[in-house]
Amino acid sequence: MVMIKTKDKKRISRTNIVRPRIEDLGVICGIEHSGWNSKEEGMVANQDALKNRIKLGTIDLLEHDGIPSGIISYQNPSWINSETIAQIMGRYGHSGFLPWNEIVQEYNLPRNWYEATNGGFIKGSGVNTHDPTSDCTFLIGVTIIPEKRGFHLVDYLVENALNVSRDGGKKFAIGYARIPCLSKEYENPTIDEVEAYLREKKQGTELPRDLGARFHVRNGGKVVSVIPEVMEDTQSRNYGFLVVYDLR
Ligand SMILES: CC(C)(COP(=O)(O)OP(=O)(O)OC[C@H]1O[C@@H](n2cnc3c(N)ncnc32)[C@H](O)[C@@H]1OP(=O)(O)O)[C@@H](O)C(=O)NCCC(=O)NCCS
Repeated sequence: MVMIKTKDKKRISRTNIVRPRIEDLGVICGIEHSGWNSKEEGMVANQDALKNRIKLGTIDLLEHDGIPSGIISYQNPSWINSETIAQIMGRYGHSGFLPWNEIVQEYNLPRNWYEATNGGFIKGSGVNTHDPTSDCTFLIGVTIIPEKRGFHLVDYLVENALNVSRDGGKKFAIGYARIPCLSKEYENPTIDEVEAYLREKKQGTELPRDLGARFHVRNGGKVVSVIPEVMEDTQSRNYGFLVVYDLR
C-alpha cells in the first residue's frame, strides 16, 4: 500500500500501486487503449512497447478498489544527467520559459518524445534510451481510465514514481508533457501563444488552466520550455512542454 500524506479531499483511499508482470500485459494494454479515443490512435503505446516496459520494470499499475485504474511509464534517460538539468534550471531561474531550439542544441537533447523514448519502445532496433545507472528519471506517460478520472488518482502514480526515484538516488525527474486542452482555444498557436496559455491559471487557483500541466505543477513540477512538434497529438496541437522536478 502506498501511503501518501494529503489534505486533498478529492483523494480517495484503497489505492495500491504494483509492478505489473508479463501476465498483466492484457490489463495494461486495456488501460492504455481506454485512455485515448478513436481519433487519437497514434497516441496509444503498442503491445510490444508495453511489453518492453514490463520486462524492464519501468511501468507501474494503479489499482483502486481492486480495479486496475491507471498506469505510468518511465525510464532513466541515457541521454541526460543531473549536471545538465541543473544547468538548464539555473538558466530557467533567471529568465522563465527557455527557448526550446536553443536548449536542444546547447545540451544535445532529443528534439521530440519519439527520440527521447525510442518511439516509446525504450529498447530495441539497436537503440536504448534507458540507463538504470542514470541519476535522473524521464516520465514517459501516464493514463487513468475514463471511469476513474477527476479524483486526482494521477497524483498517486506521479508521486510514487517521484518517491521511488528519490529513494533510488535520482536527482531530477523530467518529462516531455502534453497540453491536451490547447486545441479548445487555438487552431494553430505560436510558441508565444502557447507560453501565454501555460501561464494562465485555473480560476480560483494558482495552478495551470490546462489539466495536462496542472497535475505536474500540483506535484511540484516546473514548466520550463515549450516544445513544438513534440509528438503527433491533435489535442495538444503537437505542442508539449519540458517539465522538471527537482528531487534533491
Ligand atoms: C491526464 C490524466 C492522467 C489525468 O488523470 P486524473 O486522475 O483524472 O486527473 P485529475 O483528477 O487531476 O483530473 C484532472 C482534471 O480533469 C477534470 N475532470 C474532473 N472530473 C473528470 C472526469 N470525470 N473525467 C475527465 N476529467 C475530469 C477536472 O477538471 C480535473 O481538474 P482538477 O485538477 O481541477 O480537479 C487523465 O485525464 C488521462 O489519462 N488522460 C489521457 C492520457 C493523458 O493525457 N495523459 C497525460 C500525459 S501522458
